[in-house]
Amino acid sequence: MAKTKHLLSPKLSLTFLSLLIVAATLAAAAATKGVDSPSSKTGRPRPFKKLNKPVVLMISCDGFRFGYQFKTDTPNIDLLISGGTEAKSGLIPVFPSMTFPNHYSIATGLYPAYHGIIMNKFTDPITGEVFNKGLDQKWWLGEPLWVTAANQGRKAVTLFWPGSEVPKGSWTCPKGLCPHYNSSVTFEERVDTILSYFDLPGSEIPDFLMLYFDQPDKEGHEYGPDDPRVTSAVSKVDKMIGRVIQGLKKRKIFDEVHVILLGDHGMVANCDKKTIYIDDLADSIKIPADWIDAYSPVLAMNPRWGKDVKNPGEKNAEVVAKMNKALSSGKVENGEFLQVYLKEKLPKRLHYSESSRIPPIVGMVGEGLIVRQNRTDAHECYGDHGYDNKYFSMRSIFIGHGPRFRRGKKVPSFENVQIYNVVAEILGLRPAPNNGSSLFTRNILSPFKET
Ligand SMILES: *[C@@H]1O[C@H](CO)[C@@H](O)[C@H](O)[C@H]1NC(C)=O
Ligand SMILES: *[C@@H]1O[C@H](CO)[C@@H](O)[C@H](O)[C@H]1NC(C)=O
Ligand SMILES: *[C@@H]1O[C@H](CO)[C@@H](O)[C@H](O)[C@H]1NC(C)=O
Ligand SMILES: [Zn+2]
Repeated sequence: MAKTKHLLSPKLSLTFLSLLIVAATLAAAAATKGVDSPSSKTGRPRPFKKLNKPVVLMISCDGFRFGYQFKTDTPNIDLLISGGTEAKSGLIPVFPSMTFPNHYSIATGLYPAYHGIIMNKFTDPITGEVFNKGLDQKWWLGEPLWVTAANQGRKAVTLFWPGSEVPKGSWTCPKGLCPHYNSSVTFEERVDTILSYFDLPGSEIPDFLMLYFDQPDKEGHEYGPDDPRVTSAVSKVDKMIGRVIQGLKKRKIFDEVHVILLGDHGMVANCDKKTIYIDDLADSIKIPADWIDAYSPVLAMNPRWGKDVKNPGEKNAEVVAKMNKALSSGKVENGEFLQVYLKEKLPKRLHYSESSRIPPIVGMVGEGLIVRQNRTDAHECYGDHGYDNKYFSMRSIFIGHGPRFRRGKKVPSFENVQIYNVVAEILGLRPAPNNGSSLFTRNILSPFKET
C-alpha cells in the first residue's frame, strides 16, 4: 500500500483523494435514503440524537380548507409553516373530495378507483352490497402506510384514521396502538395519548403515528365555511397543534420528529336557492329516485334496468344524452351547473372510472350546488365538500416539519396521493405500488438534515 502511495504524483493523489470524498459523500447520501435499516452503521452524522431513528407523526384536521389559517391567529400552525415546508396554495384532494376516499388516498397513495373506497357511502353496482364506512376487509384495497410499516417490522400507531381498524397484512389493529373510533374522546386526550408513546423506552417508541381531529369539518358542514363558529374551530385545532409542539419540545424531540399537518379536503357554502331538481327534467326524461345512489356533491346513478334489457350500456348512454340536453336547455333551474357522464367518459384527470364499484353514470355538480329529487324537502344553508377537486375551495393544507423538511420552503400544490411515498421515504420503507411519483419525494425532502 505504502508503495502505491509513493507511485502517485502529488497531483494524482489529490485527484484520488477527491474521488474518495465523492464516493464517501455518495455512500452517505445513499445511507440517508434509508433503504437499509435506519440504524445501519455508516459513520455519517445522525440527525436523530434522542430518538435514534426517523419518526413521522401525521396529523389530519378534517375539512381544514386552505385559507382557514388566515381567518384568525394560528401561531402554532404558523410555527410549523415557518420552520417547515408548505404546499404554497394548498393540498389538492382526490375526486370525490370526501373524507373516507381522501384519508385512504393519503394512506395508500392510490386514487379511490384503485383503493376501493370510491365514496363515503355507496352501493356496489354488481353485487348490490352497501358500503357505509364499514370495516369489512373486502372493501379496503391497496396497502396503507400502517400496513407497509407493520409488514416491514416497524411500529405504527393510529389514533383514529379511516381504514386503520381494518386488519390487513401484518397489521391486526393491535390493542393499545389502534383504538376504535370514538368521537367523544376529547382532542386534548388524543394529543396526550400520542405524546405518551414518546415516553416509552427508546426501542418501543413507534416509528409512525397518526392523529385525527374531526374539526373544523363538523362546524363547516353545520354552518358553512364563513361562520364565526368555524373560526373558533380553527382556533381550537391550532391550540391542539400547540399542545403537540409543546409536548414534543418538553421531551426535547420537536426537531427530531417529522410532523406532517394536513387535511382531507376543503369546504364550500351550500344554499337551497342553488339547487337542481331531478324532477325538473321530467319533460325530457323521468328519473326514478331508485336509480340514484347519491345526489350531491356527486350524482351517482345506476339505472336498474332488469334482466330483459340486453344493452344496458346503450340505454345508459341514452339517459346521459337526454339528461344533458335537458340540463343545457335553459328550462331547468340551475341546469347549467350539472353535467352527466358515462363513467368511462369522465375527464381523465379525475381517475374515476377504473373500478366496478363506481356507478355507470356520474354527474359532476357545480361548486356549491345541490342536487335533489324534488322540492319537498326544505333545507337551510350549510357547508359541503365532495365536489370536483379542481375547485380551490376543496383544497386543504399540507405542512411538513422536521429533519427532512427544509425550513421556510414552499412547494407548488400537489395531489395527496404523493404523500404515501414521502412518508415511506422518510421512514426508509419499501413503498407498495401506488399513484404517487417516486420523483416527487426529491422535490419535497432534503437528503440531509439542514444544519
Ligand atoms: C368513548 O370515549 C368516552 C370519553 O373518553 C368514554 O367515556 C366512552 O366510554 C368511550 N366509548 C366507548 C364505546 O369506548
Ligand atoms: C320527493 O323525493 C323523495 C325522494 O328523494 C320521495 O321520497 C318523495 O316521495 C318525493 N315527493 C314527491 C312529491 O314526488
Ligand atoms: C394507480 O396505481 C395502481 C397500482 O399500482 C395501478 O394499477 C394503476 O394503473 C395506477 N393508476 C394510475 C392512473 O396511475
Ligand atoms: Zn373530511
